[in-house]
Amino acid sequence: MSRRYFAVIPAAGTGSRFGGDVPKQYLPLHGSPLIRHTMGALLADPRIERVVVVLAPDDAFWDEDCTPVGMLARVSVVREGGATRAISVINGIKWLIDNIKAEPDDWLLVHDAARPCLNSVQLSSLIDGLKDDPVGGLLAIPVADTLKRADTVCRVEATIDRQRLWQAQTPQMFPMGLLHMALSSGSLDGITDEASAIERLGQQPRLVAGSLTNLKVTYPEDLALAEMILSADQARSNT
Ligand code: C5P
Repeated sequence: MSRRYFAVIPAAGTGSRFGGDVPKQYLPLHGSPLIRHTMGALLADPRIERVVVVLAPDDAFWDEDCTPVGMLARVSVVREGGATRAISVINGIKWLIDNIKAEPDDWLLVHDAARPCLNSVQLSSLIDGLKDDPVGGLLAIPVADTLKRADTVCRVEATIDRQRLWQAQTPQMFPMGLLHMALSSGSLDGITDEASAIERLGQQPRLVAGSLTNLKVTYPEDLALAEMILSADQARSNT
């Protein structure tokens, strides 16, 4: 049987850097909740059989308006978010294994709830670039700016050589069994993305060139940028 594709969106974060009473994934963006754009971006690719959204158990903001129109059958909402992103992802994987009989060789794409501007070109280049890869990998962009490391009082301690440095994005795509093992073996300290768990096993995820437009909404001013990116995408697809 050919390998299937699934996606997990960990969405149990509180968005402490963003602030506010409503978690950022539920804020209105371009006419609908932010997370609906994130889900829509993944569901637009018919290869992705199902998207599992992992919410905090006490999430009071999720409602039916969060699922893109006509997509209910390909969406599962699992209220088993954990204390860290890694735990939320592990619980999404367990749900897929228990309920959909996902196999270790199936591909899993993990995508941040707060990246609503992923477009079909970026998603296709990730899937097409990795579908025959033994390890898997992630969308990322080469660092463009000069990097400074600060001391504790915000004075430059050092300039970091930016050559061969990339900024990791999502989706990150790995064989489900490999990712499950990587996240389940050892401490989760310092594991801020799926690739870092895979690297801990001694594997080297592949970097697939993404785009700056696939931004993560982290601070309030990012919302206006996301709005502009979605408007520009819509204008392009209308021409
Ligand atoms: O905090 P950060 O922006 O890195 O979170 C990345 C993603 O992980 C977000 O989609 C967030 O909702 C999710 N997350 C989670 N469970 C946590 C912490 C973060 O699902 N405990």
